[in-house]
Amino acid sequence: MESPIAVGAEAVVTVSEFLGRKAVRKTRVPKKYRHPILDERIRSTRTRNEVRIIRQSRSDIVRTPVIYDVDMSEYSITMEFIEGSTVKEALDKDPSVAEYVCPLIGKALADLHNRGISHGDMTTSNMILGNDGILCITDMSLGNLNADTEEMGVDVRLLQRAFASAHPTIEKGFDTVMESYVKHKTDADAVIKKTEEIGNRARYT
Ligand SMILES: Nc1ncnc2c1ncn2[C@@H]1O[C@H](COP(=O)(O)OP(=O)(O)OP(=O)(O)O)[C@@H](O)[C@H]1O
Ligand SMILES: [Mg+2]
Repeated sequence: MESPIAVGAEAVVTVSEFLGRKAVRKTRVPKKYRHPILDERIRSTRTRNEVRIIRQSRSDIVRTPVIYDVDMSEYSITMEFIEGSTVKEALDKDPSVAEYVCPLIGKALADLHNRGISHGDMTTSNMILGNDGILCITDMSLGNLNADTEEMGVDVRLLQRAFASAHPTIEKGFDTVMESYVKHKTDADAVIKKTEEIGNRARYT
């Protein structure tokens, strides 16, 4: 019996095995509140999109889990198990980890954006700090391989909100992320301008 490690809004994530390797299996389960045809379409699109983006995002700078297998009969993805803890858990346990991990987050996001990729759900629960110290980015089903400045702005904004709500005691966390982002992102100004615009929109609507 596979043991669940997370039951999210859309997916059940279990520890699994693939050809003798420890793996994670993420299955998009049916949602009764959605019309069956729409439900199938969403599960199918998100599974495909996630696989595509997890693969394309991998670079010398960004680590993502290796995809071992995809089963479209149950909308599941089997991927490499990353030994470590989510950045959320790591920061909750020891806030001083921020000094190490925040620059890595900024650098990884800048590299994704430099290659025209948006993440779509940029929170500290969707990054795993490996026991080897390497940051791994996951949960990319809402990303886009042809992202525009608006989508990049949304990534930055989501991250800002994630730090404000999940890590309110880590004072310079988001600032440290952005210092690194600005250092590595080409034309970071355009994204930052967009981020402010999105923030203002959220405030006044
Ligand atoms: N490759 C992996 N290795 C180790 N742990 C993982 C891996 N992928 C996911 N996890 C763990 O499972 C949790 C949930 O995974 P994920 O964020 O992909 O799904 P989700 O948030 O439920 O999905 P979605 O937002 O797409 O509905 C992560 O926060 C992490 O703790
Ligand atoms: Mg997630």
